[in-house]
Amino acid sequence: MESIKKIIIASISENGIIGNQNKMVWKIPDEIEHFRLTTIDNYILMGRKTFESIGKVLPNRTSLVLSKTKTGNSKNLYYFDEISKVFSFLKENSIPKVYIIGGEAVFLQTIGFADELILSFVKGIYSGDKVFPMNKLDDFELISSEGNTQFIINKFVKKRQISRKMK
Ligand SMILES: NC(=O)c1ccc[n+]([C@@H]2O[C@H](COP(=O)([O-])OP(=O)(O)OC[C@H]3O[C@@H](n4cnc5c(N)ncnc54)[C@H](OP(=O)(O)O)[C@@H]3O)[C@@H](O)[C@H]2O)c1
Repeated sequence: MESIKKIIIASISENGIIGNQNKMVWKIPDEIEHFRLTTIDNYILMGRKTFESIGKVLPNRTSLVLSKTKTGNSKNLYYFDEISKVFSFLKENSIPKVYIIGGEAVFLQTIGFADELILSFVKGIYSGDKVFPMNKLDDFELISSEGNTQFIINKFVKKRQISRKMK
């Protein structure tokens, strides 16, 4: 698992919202295109609710879906009932990186071992019932920030652990 790069990608409102009633709250074409271009030809990991919300296997990507209630692998779609099994699968297939695309439950479980975050901060305050674990951002260092009037894409990398010997 250590050698597989784990990248969280999300879009988040100013008040930390990522979704409402199992739907996205905003539809910003340029932000959707950023997501598409970033994840294209890669493996994407998501929770069952996000997969059902999207409603299809996203083209030109391999979808890895976490669920303890659903099964049914098909072309470019694999179900897993434990996160560790996802990483065994990726390792067995020599896949170097995975994009973790949500939702709240999956971000909460994976941000502790994520290597990078690609977060679109969407302008505005929204109502919603799902949030991003913003309190974990202190573990990451902001390396780039670019955007437009609607959203800013912020890239973060995990802060390097300071060796005990160095202290
Ligand atoms: N703004 C964004 O960037 C963004 C991105 C993605 C999603 N979203 C939003 O987030 C919301 C969905 O988030 P959510 O937290 O409700 O659901 P979710 O994280 O998409 O899916 C949760 C489900 O995933 C499965 N699961 C989670 N952890 C698991 C584990 N360790 N092992 C096995 N299965 C596991 C379970 O499925 P079973 O119940 O089948 O066991 C669980 O009910 C929606 O509103 C969506 O639109 C926003």
